[in-house]
Amino acid sequence: MKVERFSSKEALYDRAVAIITQVKNDGATTFGLATGGTMEPLYAKIRETNIDFSESLSYNLDEYVGLSATHEQSYAYYMQQHLFQYKPFKASHLPNGLANDVVAEAAKYEDLLQQQPLDFQLLGIGQNGHIGFNEPGTSFDSLTHLVELEESTRQANARYFDTIDEVPTQAFTMGIQSIMRAKCILLLAVGEAKHEVLKRVLASEYTEEVPASALTKHPNVIILTDLQEEENSL
Ligand code: F6R
Repeated sequence: MKVERFSSKEALYDRAVAIITQVKNDGATTFGLATGGTMEPLYAKIRETNIDFSESLSYNLDEYVGLSATHEQSYAYYMQQHLFQYKPFKASHLPNGLANDVVAEAAKYEDLLQQQPLDFQLLGIGQNGHIGFNEPGTSFDSLTHLVELEESTRQANARYFDTIDEVPTQAFTMGIQSIMRAKCILLLAVGEAKHEVLKRVLASEYTEEVPASALTKHPNVIILTDLQEEENSL
């Protein structure tokens, strides 16, 4: 894992854009994307570039179960608002939050990913170490699957909904193994709330209790963070 530390968020996001541009110029065509607060400044910056994804394919990490693509809190809607309306891809894929057969939907999404291996995967990290919606305890062998969201994750995401009761209780997510197949992974860990869990990952803990720690075994991971070296001790 290569870790790059920034004292300025502006510089961190500029670097993220530079990495994505480089990966694309090097021939990447399949991009795994993420949602969440961390990615908003990134997508805002990408919108200002002349990067062209019109011949690329995108695959999002996750989607809530029970929300339509037009629901304002669905990840399909988020992607449309923050990126796709400005930077359309040739085709963009997310699990269908309204699928009748959720097990079949997860299997279908995993099939798609296996047919089109990801050249690149963008990741945020949850305070509990989750990546995608892979909560602590998820098997490192997991493929795309249905998850019951942890209360802490629902609470963290409740800020986007009127009440916590509206936050879905289930989601689809790429599994850890699905994520680990990507050729290059860029993880953004921005903000104090992410520092404790990032320290555990950087200390090379390798445990399913910290899903992001699977990344310590991936050959090509870049982490961009505002956690400074001097704050790094556990
Ligand atoms: C979103 C996702 C999540 C987020 C994580 C951090 O697609 O996969 O794992 O990356 O919950 O979210 P923020 O950036 O809102 O702190």
